[in-house]
Amino acid sequence: MKIKFEVKKIKEIKSDVVASMIFEDSAESKLQWLNTLFKGSLETLMQTKDFKGEPNTNSVEYINGDIRTNRLMLAGLGKSKEITLEKIRNAYATAAQKINSLKLTSAGFEVPDISLIKTVTNNSVSDIVGAITEGVLLSQYCFNKYYSKKEFVPLEEIIFFTDSPKYQKEISDAVKEAKIISDAVFTARDLGNEPSNFLTPDIFAENVKKMSTKAGYSVTVFDEKKIKQLNMGGITGVSQGSENPPRFLILQYFGSSKSEKPFVLVGKGVTFDSGGISLKPGQGMADMKMDMCGAAAVVGAFEAISRLKPRINVIGLIPSVENMPSGKAIKPGDVITSYSGTSMEVDNTDAEGRLILADALDYAANYKPKAVVDAATLTGAVVVCFGHLVAGVMGTDKELITKIFNAGEKTHERVWELPLYEEYEKLTKSNVADIINVGPPREAGSIMGGMFLKKFAADKYPWAHLDIAGTAFNVGENSAYITKGATGFGVRLFVELLRNYSH
Ligand code: BES
Ligand code: MN
Ligand code: ZN
Repeated sequence: MKIKFEVKKIKEIKSDVVASMIFEDSAESKLQWLNTLFKGSLETLMQTKDFKGEPNTNSVEYINGDIRTNRLMLAGLGKSKEITLEKIRNAYATAAQKINSLKLTSAGFEVPDISLIKTVTNNSVSDIVGAITEGVLLSQYCFNKYYSKKEFVPLEEIIFFTDSPKYQKEISDAVKEAKIISDAVFTARDLGNEPSNFLTPDIFAENVKKMSTKAGYSVTVFDEKKIKQLNMGGITGVSQGSENPPRFLILQYFGSSKSEKPFVLVGKGVTFDSGGISLKPGQGMADMKMDMCGAAAVVGAFEAISRLKPRINVIGLIPSVENMPSGKAIKPGDVITSYSGTSMEVDNTDAEGRLILADALDYAANYKPKAVVDAATLTGAVVVCFGHLVAGVMGTDKELITKIFNAGEKTHERVWELPLYEEYEKLTKSNVADIINVGPPREAGSIMGGMFLKKFAADKYPWAHLDIAGTAFNVGENSAYITKGATGFGVRLFVELLRNYSH
């Protein structure tokens, strides 16, 4: 995809189709103006009033005029007083997908009145243009690498344009940044959607290594031997039933002086979660190839920040395993020990995410981090609670959680807090070990996941946990820009968060 921004008149855009973005309240005057410009082409439409500028509505008109294309798309933004970043994303995404349905590959998109949107939403030019660009770009994702015949043809050439010279530099910069972020979201979606026969922990590590050289961050990979040497008992235990050995990835990005404490991102990287000996039912099990979406979000965030270069140091920790049943597999009742020496009773081998995250959260303390945030497809219970729209956030630091919440509102990768009250702690007591990996059946499942992790984060650093089991992937389509399959949830949230922490 080639993307550019140009200060040009609508007539000068040389694309297969040009989309004019229209607010409901000014639709009439805008259509009038376009009608004059295109020599009466919109006469009938103005009489029928078939296009009113309502949110996510589109109409393609065939126009007269001295431009290369004869196609003018009218795309509704809704009422200007009600405009939000999310409405902008959806309006542009819908318009872009309408263009896809016409099998056109080059398109111009008008940048609307930025000053007006600024006043209504109180957002920066960069945020507004980011929403416009991400709306278009993120809607162009399709995981079709394994189809012999590719039905979806994404836009190849995209021109954002306005005839106003105002904010030129800001708009142009924001388009470039949004392209970087969208590419990183695509990376996360690709990793999530990749079938587990093509994405085992070792292949995952190899892929991240390759991507890191391109993006400009560094990666260290611990293999099975090293993981065992370091006494990472969670990772070792969960992976022991699989033919595919585990990996532990350390990603590093230095945007600030080396002496500055890093921010640590941790991502659950279970390349396939069968449940292990506590085997999952067959229905929906295929989705468990996406049980590494937390890890994918971390990788995506690293790709974006290595290109955007915020002044902050960031470490990414990814424990990656395949959770399988076999004669060598870990069994209910087994006791294993985490990196820091905490013993864990494995009452249910399907609560594996928290076992591998225990090692990673222990290991994070080595960096004396300023904060640690983990992202994990941890519990089905969070899907029961929030559906596919909101992630659960839990943690030990109010300020960190507030910052995550705000970044979530801004990016629309929304989170909602669940409490880690100390009364829940007694439910993590084991008769044989320091902690048990599941609580009582059907009780506060997501919180119990959080309580388990809290034991390892403890008071070693400010910490928050994102349970993204509901938001990491969709079964159907969620919105025009949140495409089906892996969503890349967390990438935009992390980037926003890290940029706010940078200086
Ligand atoms: N990976 C699953 C959680 C999950 C479920 C992610 C649905 C995405 C969609 C996790 O490892 C798991 O199996 N959790 C168990 C925990 C239980 C055994 C305490 C669950 O949610 O059932
Ligand atoms: Mn599981
Ligand atoms: Zn899992």
